Amino acid sequence: MNLTRLIYASVARTGMDYAELTSILRTAGEHNAAQGITGILCVGNGAFLQALEGDRDVVNRLYNRIIPDPRHSQCTILRYGRIVSRSFNEWSMKLVGLDDQPTANRRALVLRHSGRADFEPLEMSGAQAFAFLEELALVERRAA
Ligand SMILES: Cc1cc2nc3c(=O)[nH]c(=O)nc-3n(C[C@H](O)[C@H](O)[C@H](O)COP(=O)(O)O)c2cc1C
Repeated sequence: MNLTRLIYASVARTGMDYAELTSILRTAGEHNAAQGITGILCVGNGAFLQALEGDRDVVNRLYNRIIPDPRHSQCTILRYGRIVSRSFNEWSMKLVGLDDQPTANRRALVLRHSGRADFEPLEMSGAQAFAFLEELALVERRAA
C-alpha cells in the first residue's frame, strides 16, 4: 500500500451546526472504515483542519469528493506525502470541536503551534498543522 497522509484546511460554511457535523461524521465513519482511511477532523473558529491517512489513490479520491462539499470552501492542501506509519490509526475519523475545549488549553495549543491566538488553519504551515493535530490526538487519547 502507498500509505499517504493528506492534511488540508478549509473555511466552514457559516451557520454550520452540531447536527451537520454529526452527519458529516456518520458518512465519514462508514465510508472511511470501509476504505481503510483513518484521520482526525478539527473544527473551530469557523474553520476545518483535517488529516486523511490511507492508500494514496483512496486518499486522493476522497479528497476530491470532499472539495466540492458545500459545507465548506477554500480547501487548501497544507501537507501531502508518503508516510511510514499512521498517526491517527485508531479513528476512522475523529471529530474534535476546538471551541468545546477549555479556553486556556485551546489557546495554549493554538499559540504553541501557530504563534497566533486564534485557530487559523489556513495560515498554518504543513509542519505546524501536523504537529497541532498530533498533539490534539494526544489530548483526546488521554481524555478517553
Ligand atoms: C470538512 C468535511 C470533512 C469531510 N470528511 C469526510 C471523510 O473523512 N470521509 C467521507 O467519506 N466524507 C467526508 N466528508 C463528506 C464528503 O464531502 C461527502 O459529502 C461524502 O463523502 C458523500 O459523498 P457523495 O455525496 O459523493 O457520496 C466531509 C465533508 C466535510 C465538509
